[in-house]
Amino acid sequence: MTQNSSESAVGDSAVFSADLETSRGMTAQGNGLFLKKFLQKGRGISAATPSSRFLSEAVCAAVDFSKPSTIVEVGAGTGAITEVILEHLRPHHRFVMLEFDPDFCDILRQRFPNIDLIQGDVGEIEGPLASMGIGKVDYVLSGLPTPNLPPKSLAKMMRWLRRSLAPDGVFSQITVIPLYYKSFYKQLFANVEYEMVWLNAPPGGVYYCRSPRRRVRRANRRR
Ligand SMILES: C[S@@+](CC[C@H](N)C(=O)[O-])C[C@H]1O[C@@H](n2cnc3c(N)ncnc32)[C@H](O)[C@@H]1O
Repeated sequence: MTQNSSESAVGDSAVFSADLETSRGMTAQGNGLFLKKFLQKGRGISAATPSSRFLSEAVCAAVDFSKPSTIVEVGAGTGAITEVILEHLRPHHRFVMLEFDPDFCDILRQRFPNIDLIQGDVGEIEGPLASMGIGKVDYVLSGLPTPNLPPKSLAKMMRWLRRSLAPDGVFSQITVIPLYYKSFYKQLFANVEYEMVWLNAPPGGVYYCRSPRRRVRRANRRR
């Protein structure tokens, strides 16, 4: 687990804008690598292309950007959702991204050199966040293949969410298999809403999940 920490990533809109400028135009390179990783890792990536603009906006719709908050993006990939988050960030936000794959992390560092990046498994996120002074989190925006995570990583992520997600916090999760995993997410969270997003390849959607359950029966990965 490694982390890049940047003091300026705490609420500096000039920095966010600079990173947005850097990132634009780098997506084609990211798209080629994304497909290659999908062919290599399959369910560990779970999508052949990065999220569309529409899916990225839908996952970000969970966030009330008008208020101060701490936002963590998990499974950032090549930065499709990150770019939309940056467009909305204001000085009152704290934003950190996490990604597991080293090659994707290299792209994220090139695209967003001023944004805090944790390189590692989502199951191990709590320690690096604590070392950045982050305890409570208001929003977790997830591009993770959550139903396909190793059971240990999923259990540890859920323990982190129970401890750290604010009472009115949201875990906003993309999917490219519309509605298929709704009951899976209902086993993990007391409150789950779903929104369809047609304009994605393939069509997908977002689960807006609130109130991580205290006790989770062994989560059935299928509906
Ligand atoms: C479907 S891709 C989403 C990428 C990007 N957020 C998007 O929407 O285009 C899933 C991402 O989750 C990452 N990932 C998979 N397992 C992970 C884990 N255990 N911890 C952290 N990231 C993981 C993959 O490397 C990949 O970048």
